Amino acid sequence: MPIGSVARVYDVVVLGAGAAGLMCAAVAGERGRRVALLDHNAQPGRKILISGGGRCNFTNIHCAPDRFLSANPHFAKSALALYTPQHFLELINRYRIPWHEKTLGQLFCDHSSWAVLDMLRAECERGRVHLVLNARDVRVERAGEGGRFRVESHAGNFEADAVVVATGGLSIPKLGATGLAYDLARQFGLRVVDPRPALVPLVLGGEEAHWTELTGVSAEVIAWAGEDSDARHGRRPAKRFREKMLVTHRGLSGPAILQASSYWRPGEALHLDFAPALKSGERLLQTLLEPRGRRDETAFRQALRGFLPQRMADRVAEVGAPEGWGNAALDASERRLRDWEFHPAGTEGFEKAEVTAGGVNTDDLNARTMEARIMPGLFFIGEAVDVTGHLGGFNFQWAWASAVAAGSAV
Ligand code: FDA
Repeated sequence: MPIGSVARVYDVVVLGAGAAGLMCAAVAGERGRRVALLDHNAQPGRKILISGGGRCNFTNIHCAPDRFLSANPHFAKSALALYTPQHFLELINRYRIPWHEKTLGQLFCDHSSWAVLDMLRAECERGRVHLVLNARDVRVERAGEGGRFRVESHAGNFEADAVVVATGGLSIPKLGATGLAYDLARQFGLRVVDPRPALVPLVLGGEEAHWTELTGVSAEVIAWAGEDSDARHGRRPAKRFREKMLVTHRGLSGPAILQASSYWRPGEALHLDFAPALKSGERLLQTLLEPRGRRDETAFRQALRGFLPQRMADRVAEVGAPEGWGNAALDASERRLRDWEFHPAGTEGFEKAEVTAGGVNTDDLNARTMEARIMPGLFFIGEAVDVTGHLGGFNFQWAWASAVAAGSAV
């Protein structure tokens, strides 16, 4: 890297002016650190603006470590405990941003996501953060062990004692997502857990492609996939998500599917329970099983219509008709309806994934500060790290919490 051009000197350079980068820069700036915040986009926080359908689901009051996926599920605990949804809510209230709780503890702005972005920008101004936009072609080097970091970019060169990498994951390239965080991690000797699309619609093909004829139909289901395993605990039963599923022209989406997709791996089955509202002991095919109950296709379809929208009930009845009308066949059919297997051909990829699972290996980071263990002064925060939240405000809460951890340490 050419060392010739003059560099501006700061205490901290934060790379990426998204949710995590803005928060981290503000916290460090308010502590009196001289901070430069770089982004290659012409505008900061583009994902904040489109998040939550334009109303930013900025946190979730039920935030807990089990709402996150990571090879090390303990890693996120400390940062999440030190900066809670209540802390972020205090900030929102201080700025008098009107908000409401939707379902399942999800907190949204009443009006627009702009309120959250404006708040973070105001916090950065309070901390005298120098925001540098259009900073393309970012490169980072360190002048010898223990020396300063030098950051070169299209928008100028910088030197700092600390660099915080907050450039996110690979989701939605058209909004500016790049793999810079992974490249920098590897450059400085950190490991990266393979990034993969998460909170992403699943594609159906082959013998299952006919389901897409139901495009636009939605139903409440319980969805699950894979297993909730991690390096320390091994296998655990998969997490089950009782929410809406939506059939799309390519396959399956809706909150239940997006949640399960984070646990799904290519080649595995996606499981659905088509009758989530059944109480324990109740039977889906009760009317058929009654002593003088009618047992035929019409009765079967009718039973399904009690749980599913008509078009979906009829399709399930068609594809999943029992092998016969005896008790054993009806029992087997009921078991299948409560654990229906789809075999997705794939996901809709990073173009449609709300987040990226995987990322900088948490074993290589300090859980209290997000600093690289083998490279003091280098920090990774937000979605770039191998911590991925469930749908519902958890990813922003991780962005805020990891940002505050690093911003308080740099
Ligand atoms: P983020 O992606 O926000 O920011 C990274 C920044 O780095 C960007 O500004 C980018 O331009 C910049 N950058 C990237 N590469 C660079 C490079 N090479 N050089 C310089 N700059 C670079 N979560 C949630 O909790 N509630 C919600 O409502 C939603 N809704 C939602 C909707 C949609 C459509 C998407 C795609 C995602 C969500 N999310 C969400 C997820 C949430 O947006 C996401 O987890 C956070 O924005 C992650 O914050 P980060 O700051 O880590 O990355």
